[in-house]
Amino acid sequence: MPLHRRAFVKVTGAALTLGVLPSGIRAAEVEKRKIGIIGSGNVGSAIGSVWVRHGHQVMFSSRTIENDRALAAKLGANARAGTPLEAAQFGEVLLFAVPYRALPELGETLRSALNGKVVIDACNPFPGRDGEVANEARRIGVGLMSAKLLPGARIVRAFNAIGAARMGRAHEEPGKVGMPIAGDDQAAIEIASQLIRDIGYEPVLIGGLEMGNYLMPGTPLAGERSPEEIRRIVATLHR
Ligand SMILES: NC(=O)c1ccc[n+]([C@@H]2O[C@H](COP(=O)([O-])OP(=O)(O)OC[C@H]3O[C@@H](n4cnc5c(N)ncnc54)[C@H](OP(=O)(O)O)[C@@H]3O)[C@@H](O)[C@H]2O)c1
Repeated sequence: MPLHRRAFVKVTGAALTLGVLPSGIRAAEVEKRKIGIIGSGNVGSAIGSVWVRHGHQVMFSSRTIENDRALAAKLGANARAGTPLEAAQFGEVLLFAVPYRALPELGETLRSALNGKVVIDACNPFPGRDGEVANEARRIGVGLMSAKLLPGARIVRAFNAIGAARMGRAHEEPGKVGMPIAGDDQAAIEIASQLIRDIGYEPVLIGGLEMGNYLMPGTPLAGERSPEEIRRIVATLHR
């Protein structure tokens, strides 16, 4: 059985459970979370800002805390700024939105805070930008590589192949655009899925972390598609 087929079989239970979650869930009905953002650039600031507006408590972090403080001040009481370690300790859910080359060091410096955390991994490996770690990620599969670099984290890959500008606007038309995601931990997938719905996307589980290479720019699933279209494409991948 090919690798991606095995991955699909492995997460069938998770996919079924995900399927019974109500779509278009309203913000008021969703549990409010403490979220740590590691990397508050285009992606981290866009997604984090929407979560703040949905009533989640969000700590933004990067290597430049002045930027995070300015962003948090703009967003109000539910937003704060901290170092990457403080954000990793603060969040029950973490969003990683840094250049892929930063993951090896962050995996080391944040190690004590990562264990058992739900990590939404938006990072993509580009060899031209990120160097050898990106080549290795593409070789072994980016989802599996992130799991290796962030030990103990319950990783869900998401937000990988949609432009950051749309991430800040998608909530205006909730549920129309699907968000392909991959992960191995069912509870983490469900928590991530609720937060993805807050951003305005309907999550579509395509398989386990082995499927991570299908969630990158330049793949058939990249760009904005309806949930149905994503499922149709995924079915061709699993043939
Ligand atoms: N842009 C998109 O449309 C898009 C879409 C999907 C996925 N992605 C992926 O998402 C990730 C982030 O993309 P982006 O466009 O948001 O990048 P970006 O605008 O350059 O933001 C990167 C953020 O990470 C911080 N950062 C960099 N190195 C760090 C480190 N070692 N420790 C802590 N923080 C660090 C940066 O701030 P400092 O430099 O001040 O630390 C900045 O806040 C990338 O892997 C990208 O491929 C991007």
